[in-house]
Formats: sequence, C-alpha cells, structure tokens
Amino acid sequence: MSDVERTEFKLPEDLAAQAAAASAAGIPATNRNADVDAFEQPGEHDIERSLRPKSLDEFIGQPKVREQLALVLTGAKQRGVTPDHVLLSGPPGLGKTTMAMIIAQELGTSLRMTSGPALERAGDLAAMLSNLMEGDVLFIDEIHRIARPAEEMLYMAMEDFRIDVIVGKGPGATSIPLEIPPFTLVGATTRAGMLTGPLRDRFGFTAQMEYYDTEDLTRVITRAAHILGVKIDPDAAVEIGSRSRGTPRIANRLLRRVRDFAEVNGDGHIDLAAAQGALEVFDVDEMGLDRLDRAVLRALIVGHGGGPVGVSTLAVAVGEEPSTVEEVCEPYLVRAGMVARTGRGRVATAAAWQHLGLEPPEGTIGATLF
Ligand SMILES: Nc1ncnc2c1ncn2[C@@H]1O[C@H](COP(=O)(O)OP(=O)(O)OP(=O)(O)O)[C@@H](O)[C@H]1O
Ligand SMILES: [Mg+2]
Repeated sequence: MSDVERTEFKLPEDLAAQAAAASAAGIPATNRNADVDAFEQPGEHDIERSLRPKSLDEFIGQPKVREQLALVLTGAKQRGVTPDHVLLSGPPGLGKTTMAMIIAQELGTSLRMTSGPALERAGDLAAMLSNLMEGDVLFIDEIHRIARPAEEMLYMAMEDFRIDVIVGKGPGATSIPLEIPPFTLVGATTRAGMLTGPLRDRFGFTAQMEYYDTEDLTRVITRAAHILGVKIDPDAAVEIGSRSRGTPRIANRLLRRVRDFAEVNGDGHIDLAAAQGALEVFDVDEMGLDRLDRAVLRALIVGHGGGPVGVSTLAVAVGEEPSTVEEVCEPYLVRAGMVARTGRGRVATAAAWQHLGLEPPEGTIGATLF
C-alpha cells in the first residue's frame, strides 16, 4: 500500500492523542480482559483440577498426540519397561499438565511434580530424583526455565538413570555416583525453542499440542457443563467454543462466566441468547477478541490505514506497553490471520478490516489462516 493511500485514513476522535495522554497519566486506555487470557488466573486452580480429563479416552481433541502417546505407553507396558521420556510442547492452556497426569494414570504409577524455576540448584533436582520409585513419572513444568547445573544433572539421569552427587566444596569436593530407579520424565514447555539441543535430544517422544477447533472446544464445554451440573443448549456450546481462541482453558472460563449470567438473568439454563448476552457483557466478541485486541486493530486500521506500523506506535495508540501488545495481543491476532508481522511493521489483513466492518482497500493481504 502506498503512503498516499495510507494518509487517507484519519483517527475519528484522535484516538492516538487521547491514548497517549492516558498513557502519560499512567492510565491504560484499554485494559486487558483476563477472561480471554490463556494463562491460569489466580484462584482457578481447583476448578481446573475438577475439570481435567483423567484418561486418554476422556481427553478431547489432539488426535495425533493421543494416538502417538497411546502407542508409546502401550508398547512400553507390553515390553515391561518404562516408556521414553516425553516432551509436551505448546501454548498455555491446551492441556499439557492434564496430559502429564494422564500419562501417569495410564501407566498406573505415581506422578511427582515440579517445575523448571523450582530447580534452581542441582541439589534441588537430586532430592527429587533420589525420592523416585521405579516407574514413576517425574513431571517438570516449564522445563525451559531449569537452571544450568540442574539441567546437566538431568542429562545423565535421563540417559543412564544415575547422577553424580557432589559432596563438599573446593578441592576437597568428591563426587558420589547415585543410581536412580528407571523413571519417565515428562517435560512441559510453552517455549520449545528455548530448550537446549542436548536436553531436547534426550526426549524419546515430543508431543506438539495444537490449538483446538470449534468442534473440539464445543465438546470440552459440553463435558465441563455436565461436570458442573449446568444445562446448556448445543448451539450455545458452539457459540462459546467459537469464541475461545482455540484454548480449552479459555473455553472453560467463558462457560463459567456464561453460567453466572444465566443464573442471574434466568434459571441457569444456558441457551444461545444467554451465551451471546453474557459474552457481550464480558466483552468477548465473535472471534474471541477483547477490547484491547480490537483497539489494536482499530489503531492499525483506522489510525494507520492498515499499516505497516511499528509495534511501539500501536502501543502508544492503545495506551499499553509495547510488550503487552506484542506478547498478549499479537500472537492471537496473527494466528487468527488478522495481523501480519512484516519487516517494516505490522500489517492488517483483509480479515481484520472485515472484522471491524470495513471494506479492505485494494492490495490488502487477504491471507486467513483459519
Ligand atoms: N483435551 C481437553 N479436554 C478437556 N479439557 C481440557 C483439555 N485440555 C485442557 N483442558 C482443560 O483446560 C484447563 C487447562 O489445561 P492444562 O492446565 O492441562 O493446560 P496447560 O497446557 O498445562 O497450561 P499451562 O501452559 O498454562 O501450564 C484444565 O482445566 C483442563 O481441564
Ligand atoms: Mg500446565
């Protein structure tokens, strides 16, 4: 798009200046709506646990991962050995922790849980490892954040089921070899790219979790409603599913919001009107975008003719930090095919223009990813 064309687009109410003033005053112009955040929110732990599927059969979606895992687990069980170490990789809220628990459940062994940030020193990991029983599943969440010395100890533990424990300090330190019963490591990461090569290579099986389609999310919602004892019409479940950003965690959360709405405004039965009404109140639009996402699109399209525009300019326009725009809004906007990242900045696609009810100018990128 040429510069001439781009200057035709003006902010209707000088959005940028308004937002810049708000930002300077320390007031975010548009708050993030936590309902559509894929990360676990405070206080959500128990409810999430009650909604977790407990077996591979009960786990919805991810057909490839389920089939592959079933083979890995059954094969190992038949041979009477512990299965290969498993790496679960994918964005937040797609079921990595759930799957780790299912692996232990399917193997009929116990699950020991820890996380990368908790393993700051090699000694922290040594304590975990030396407490394992034969066949246990050791789950390390956020494994990309494990500290270097612990990671090096993990190499040997994964490969040879032994570790060297260093006793003492300085020249007098000695290393004592320690055998560890065979175990299966299940690592989870939202940032597979941050894993070092040697660590990645030691996993026999990597499961790449994908975003869920509306059909699977509809099943997630129907199942959760059943567990929560909520009546929901099929078209209402589809409606919530289609606004859940491909993420079961968000689907379950939106279901709870809609349930509250249906209880306050009716008898608690969720029909399509209740689902739509509730999601309007909670500011989640048909694509699952919240106000901040839409503000970013407006700044990009109305303020800058669709781009290209730098992320810091967009951030000023919506009164947010550039990192929020980049890490919170953009990934979904890019995945939904509404924003493209180019060398010269962010560009709105035809889908973004249409989402705001605007006619995309000629030459707009038309790519939609789903
Ligand atoms: N396939 C599924 N079927 C039904 N519910 C699911 C499924 N996957 C995830 N969930 C639900 O979504 C919620 C989040 O799942 P989980 O905690 O396993 O995600 P995660 O990938 O570990 O997220 P994070 O990266 O934040 O740790 C859970 O409450 C779980 O009940
Ligand atoms: Mg998790």
